[in-house]
Amino acid sequence: MSRSRATEVSAVKKSVSPVQQGKIAGLAVIVMAAGLGKRMRSKQAKVLHPVAGQAMVLYSVGLGLRVAGDRVAVVVGHQADLVRQVIDRGTSAKRGDYPVAIVEQREQLGTGHAVLQSRPVFAVGKRGAPSCYLILNGDTPLLQEKTVRELLRIHEAARATVTVLTAMLEDASGYGRVVRAHSAERGVSRIVEDRDANAEEQAIREINVGTYVVDGEFLFSALEKLNPSNAQGEYYLTDIIHLAAEQGRRVAAMVLDNPDEGLGVNTRRQLAEAEQVVRQQIRDRWLDAGVTMIDPASTWIDAAVRIGEDTVLYPNVTLEGTTVIGDDCVLRSYTRLTDCTVGNGVEILDHCVFADSHIEDDARLGPFVHLRPGVVVRKKAKVGNFVEMKKTDLGEGSKANHLSYLGDTKIGKGVNIGAGTITCNYDGVRKFQTVIGDGVFLGSDTQLIAPVTVGAGAIIAAGTTVTEDVPADALAIARAPQVNRAGWAARRRALQIGANRETLNVKRETKFTRLTKKQASVSEGNQAKKRR
Ligand code: UD1
Ligand code: MG
Repeated sequence: MSRSRATEVSAVKKSVSPVQQGKIAGLAVIVMAAGLGKRMRSKQAKVLHPVAGQAMVLYSVGLGLRVAGDRVAVVVGHQADLVRQVIDRGTSAKRGDYPVAIVEQREQLGTGHAVLQSRPVFAVGKRGAPSCYLILNGDTPLLQEKTVRELLRIHEAARATVTVLTAMLEDASGYGRVVRAHSAERGVSRIVEDRDANAEEQAIREINVGTYVVDGEFLFSALEKLNPSNAQGEYYLTDIIHLAAEQGRRVAAMVLDNPDEGLGVNTRRQLAEAEQVVRQQIRDRWLDAGVTMIDPASTWIDAAVRIGEDTVLYPNVTLEGTTVIGDDCVLRSYTRLTDCTVGNGVEILDHCVFADSHIEDDARLGPFVHLRPGVVVRKKAKVGNFVEMKKTDLGEGSKANHLSYLGDTKIGKGVNIGAGTITCNYDGVRKFQTVIGDGVFLGSDTQLIAPVTVGAGAIIAAGTTVTEDVPADALAIARAPQVNRAGWAARRRALQIGANRETLNVKRETKFTRLTKKQASVSEGNQAKKRR
């Protein structure tokens, strides 16, 4: 990593070997994610708080999987079941992720105690124990893979027992401080936690990021020796550095040039800071990949979203969850997509909200379209103003352009859904299906009382309430026949004018009577006052 500096290991040159890619043999990763996160003041475990739509813990787990493959253990404790579920959902065999070993730390007795719980996972089996462990905090979502690979390289090149990642901060408060030896090499002699630091140590600006590489033969034997004689009464993982140094082992360190990467999220302010940085990283990644953003600062893209080349995002577009957008799409302002897939060449106009839906190539939607889960909009279909759909499949080239609700509906190809069409899919208890065949023409203001099927090529006259199945190619019309009464309206108006006059007279009288009554009561009052 070109932006980092190796210290202590003065003999190590960064050009010794290229940063490795892929899984590293003999390496295991331990992610600590059992803590309560008191400083967040939250009912939710800290590591579950999302950063760019992804639980914080998944950043460390994802990084672990990329460097160590199937040898990743996560230590859970606070809200263990929820954290486990989030990890299960956030890692997928489909994507080629290996399963993650979950270890429970029943009592949160500190980071050293947390790591010790993972020992059984790596007990010597057929494969042998890992030669080296990468230990990650579950609350450092900004840490980059290339940094970790560089840290591993430095560890190896320095033949160190422990290698720590550090950063220089203007305000180091809250973090563990890195105490350097007085020797010429200025190696790390120990890490002192903020609450245990004396005034001199508190003035140190070099902090422990919470990312460590530790030799396999040293780690667990050192953890067994920890004691909780410190301000928090906890078993500190950081104490293994002092133990190693005391035993005359090498402790190497790598200082981050970009201290942002080392941000540990302990508070909501730090969460907001991490969010800003990750959001910018995501935007930069997609800009570099050929996506146009008219106003990047107001464009919100979650970590797992993917976007194709030459797609244009207008200001205030939000892409959430696992949304995937194809090439050459245009998304206009104030539109939000959550867990959707969108094909190529799709145009989505302003103010649309889509969730868990699938849109095929060259479809056009908006403005003001609401797609609730389970919608499929087929190729070249059109959905216009104020149309809401749910669990509905809109066939190729079909149109629902104005003011409609379509729920639990299967619509064929080339169908015209007239303005104001409503599928009445719910009887107050159960939901029912509507099926509309290819080439059907629904006139405006049609209601379809489900379950009902309209056969291919049928026409439904405007204003019809469809209560029975319509055969293919039939006309269905169900509305009261129209009657025109000549002169009726004019006579009514005349009558109304007369009636209005009478009403006006009555009103005047009432007002007059009310006034006189009021005046009478006022004068009575005045007379009473005089009498007193
Ligand atoms: C830790 C480091 C500190 C470093 C900072 C960097 C220790 C003792 N201190 O402090 O030197 O500067 O990270 O951000 O390690 N956890 C458990 N079980 C526990 C306690 C914590 O799994 O019993 C997990 C937490 O969920 C979290 C991680 O360990 O993911 C770090 O814990 P946290 O309480 O945030 O430690 P810091 O005070 O930030
Ligand atoms: Mg922390």
